[in-house]
Amino acid sequence: MDQIIKGFSKLSREEKIEILRRHFQLPEDFAEILKTFRHPDRQKLFDDFSENTLSNFYLPFGVAPNFKIDDNMYVVPMVVEESSVVAAASRAASFWAKNGGFKTTIHNTLKKGHIWFKWDGPKSFFANMPEGLEEKLREAVVPLTANMEKRGGGVRAMEIIPLEGEYGLFQLQISFETVNSMGANFINSCLEEMKEPLKEFFNINKDFKQYGETEIIMAILSNYTTECLVTSTVECPIEALSPFSAGMEPAGFAQKFKRAVDIALSDTSRAVTHNKGIFNGTDAVVIATGNDFRAAEAAGHAWAAKDGKYRSLSSCEITEKGTFKMDLTLPLALGTVGGLTRLHPMAALALEMLGNPSADELMGIAAAAGLANNFSAVASLVTTGIQKGHMKLHLSNLLKSLNATEEEQKAAMDHFKNETVSALKVKEFLKR
Ligand code: MEV
Repeated sequence: MDQIIKGFSKLSREEKIEILRRHFQLPEDFAEILKTFRHPDRQKLFDDFSENTLSNFYLPFGVAPNFKIDDNMYVVPMVVEESSVVAAASRAASFWAKNGGFKTTIHNTLKKGHIWFKWDGPKSFFANMPEGLEEKLREAVVPLTANMEKRGGGVRAMEIIPLEGEYGLFQLQISFETVNSMGANFINSCLEEMKEPLKEFFNINKDFKQYGETEIIMAILSNYTTECLVTSTVECPIEALSPFSAGMEPAGFAQKFKRAVDIALSDTSRAVTHNKGIFNGTDAVVIATGNDFRAAEAAGHAWAAKDGKYRSLSSCEITEKGTFKMDLTLPLALGTVGGLTRLHPMAALALEMLGNPSADELMGIAAAAGLANNFSAVASLVTTGIQKGHMKLHLSNLLKSLNATEEEQKAAMDHFKNETVSALKVKEFLKR
């Protein structure tokens, strides 16, 4: 079992499958199952997205209609495996469409990257950028930035910042505008191209050289995209909340809802779950449009902890004018060109369904989906709880996994309408 499989990546797909089957004593039909999920005529495309691709992993591509965002109506594509997420987003979207819709504020759209270096001189040298350095670095990347500049982007600003608490370690921070692309490749290429000229500048210039040689440690973009920030807001008169208040007085519901959000603002254990509910919606859009959900999550969670404690990304207010207001602010570096966005046929289709939005517009859509799911989740939590909605789908999944016939499924759905669902109870019901 602890034998290393040598040269695995060099083997053909068939050889890889056979080796795995033997090595891990997988069932005879292992190859057949993998084959079932391969695309009949576009597989080469999917194979090439990654390495050692054996097959495809299907996830549902669903839609949440009736999203009114900044006065435009959208049907929002969502890729998510968890039941109830699309239903919850759709329900909130329809409600808010009738109550003013989601409003977006794009705070800014810059992304940053760093070249980290070791230099044993005083921090005071970098109160301003050393004369001539910025020009030298910009010149070095002209072949890379020319096209981006034509599209309205490029290198924006540079600054050298010492690493907190460390002697001799610095970052050259560079901010970039990448317009409609997420820009990871562009930023990393620019940074790597600037490494050598940066080192040369320090090692030639005698003011710097007197402190010894400069060593470049690494160059990489930062996924903490605090300057690529979006807010989505909803607001309605308190009385309008009755469709979500499950029979409670809307005013009491609004108060209870606000308390639940306030709990997530002060308690980290609750905040993590609360924010998970936000990413149920946001990630589903990020994935559907071929964007990097790990980057969005990493940035979002770091932003949630920006004051030293992990808190809710959304907040809720009962305003003096008697309205219920909720907003969600998070960093979201998304693209609508480049990367997988146009290469993956389903991502391209998702973007087309959204009317081929700009990156800013997509930030607003993904944030609105997050806020919609957050609104639905908290509304359920402070009223009926979430299990009621989940159980129908849980029952359906259980019945399928127990190979129930259609007739049995129908009878079980009827029987469990007012009964708590458990695997044991469902098994017993089917036996009867
Ligand atoms: C489940 O995927 C998401 C929730 O737990 C979010 C929340 O608790 O706010 C319902």
